[in-house]
Amino acid sequence: MTSRRRTVVVLISGRGSNMQKLIEQGNAPGSPYRVVAVLSDQPQAPGLEIARGAGVATAALSAREHADRAAYDAALAQAILVHEPDLVVLAGFMRILSAAFVRRFEGTLLNIHPSLLPNHPGLHTHRRVLEAGETLHGATVHFVSEALDAGPRIVQGRIAVGPEDDEVSLKRRVQRVEHRIFPLAVHWFCSGRLTQREGRAWLDGAWLAEPVQWVESAPPGA
Ligand code: GRF
Repeated sequence: MTSRRRTVVVLISGRGSNMQKLIEQGNAPGSPYRVVAVLSDQPQAPGLEIARGAGVATAALSAREHADRAAYDAALAQAILVHEPDLVVLAGFMRILSAAFVRRFEGTLLNIHPSLLPNHPGLHTHRRVLEAGETLHGATVHFVSEALDAGPRIVQGRIAVGPEDDEVSLKRRVQRVEHRIFPLAVHWFCSGRLTQREGRAWLDGAWLAEPVQWVESAPPGA
């Protein structure tokens, strides 16, 4: 166990409910990390206001103010690096990041995706699960690699899809899972238990050939 508290920068584009959970967990007594800044590509992202309310530094970088993706990503990297973070977290950051950016932060870059990866990378995961008639769905935390939603997987949480489910209910139920597994993975990383090496995720010194399967311990509906 390390004594220095790790620092985390969170990138968002929208509501920021995952970001909020990370700020809350980071502020808890004994937390191995704290969120030091929240950055967004959307100046109007509601999550920025939440972060400011929690006393966290914020900044918005609009794509319109940069010539191309390379210029944007260079500015974004700079805005992150001024905070000298140990970890960068994508929490609903809806931009594709360039290979150069991903390489710069490789091993210290986490994302959460609303599906059981490798199933359903990309957008509209809830709709695609319903259209395929699948009975299992969920969320995955993974290290970010150059291939979209294909980096080493760390932890997954599952939900059963019922006949009553629609896109709205799936989004709500999957987000409840996200709010548990994302803080868990960040906690693991910041307490030195989780690393990325040789293109793989390692937890407590063991290679995660499969992601950890998180199981809800509270009673259903809690
Ligand atoms: C989450 O569902 C996440 O899986 C996806 O974007 C959403 C962000 O939600 N990448 P929020 O902004 O954290 O509420």
